[in-house]
Amino acid sequence: MKNKFLIAAAEIIGFTLLALFLVYKLYILPRMAEAYDGVPVESGLLIFVCVYLIGIIAIGFHIYRSMIKPAGRAQEELKKAAEESRKAEVIRKEFVANVSHELKTPLTSISGFIETLQQGAAEDPEIRTKFIDIIAIETSRLKRLIEDLLVLSDIENRKESADTKEFCVRDVLEKTVEALEPIAEDKDVRLIADYDEEARIYGSPDRFRQMMVNLIENAIKYSEQGGRVWVTAGITDGKTQVIVRDEGIGIAEEHLERLFERFYRVDKSRSTKAGGTGLGLSIVKHIAALFGADLKVESKAGEGSVFYVTFER
Ligand SMILES: Nc1ncnc2c1ncn2[C@@H]1O[C@H](COP(=O)(O)OP(=O)(O)OP(=O)(O)O)[C@@H](O)[C@H]1O
Ligand SMILES: [Mg+2]
Repeated sequence: MKNKFLIAAAEIIGFTLLALFLVYKLYILPRMAEAYDGVPVESGLLIFVCVYLIGIIAIGFHIYRSMIKPAGRAQEELKKAAEESRKAEVIRKEFVANVSHELKTPLTSISGFIETLQQGAAEDPEIRTKFIDIIAIETSRLKRLIEDLLVLSDIENRKESADTKEFCVRDVLEKTVEALEPIAEDKDVRLIADYDEEARIYGSPDRFRQMMVNLIENAIKYSEQGGRVWVTAGITDGKTQVIVRDEGIGIAEEHLERLFERFYRVDKSRSTKAGGTGLGLSIVKHIAALFGADLKVESKAGEGSVFYVTFER
């Protein structure tokens, strides 16, 4: 900026001196040397003033373009960056508050049950078994929460996975669906799979599996007893697309916008009862971003949901 200012000052001074020199040489000097006849000296001055003004306007325009305009733009960018950093700070504070709350709830429950057991409830075998079961459930919820937080932090730090390569979508989906079959069976939900063998994508197969586990698990979890879940992988318009569809409880429109936010749950008590951390879809969103994939959801309360993940090929 300082350099640009010096250049502009040198331009103005240089141009002024040049204009003065030319007028002196071309108009004033000849008219002083020769006998004055014809063009009055004032015309020379008028031409000098015109040339000088045009030059100054040109330099002014140059200064505007090289200094004032970029300075304005830089100020706007600075303002935008400050606003973004303020928003990031709000999100960070919210996140810390949410994490603390999510950690505190199961911990309070665990310590409460332990205390009750210590105060004598442990004498009754029935109560003891019941309380220990609750403690086990809450402990596994804590473990899941911490695991999910670590996954999120890993993805957010953009840790490049060592297993990044081109892989066949069908191979990973087959194993994922197979691993989730017992959960589906428990709920009497039928998993229907259909994969195009040609569908291939580039990235980490393990991250892809994590994303699919979350989507398929949700589809099963938010389905009614006896429902069906479709997992399909195909190629649409030259792009690999994976679709997870269910005919479960669905999601009302007003929730769709915030669905992928961390800890956002449509029905908090139902999700918590089902052992949910509310981080699943946020993990899905981050992994989709890692793959450069487009993530879309269509859903209607009471009718079911469809999640589309479209990969650039
Ligand atoms: N297929 C679906 N059908 C209906 N609601 C869904 C579906 N998938 C997600 N949701 C809603 O979106 C919320 C957020 O989902 P997300 O997977 O992030 O969390 P969660 O399932 O509650 O917990 P977690 O995935 O950690 O077990 C859920 O609580 C649920 O209300
Ligand atoms: Mg989930």
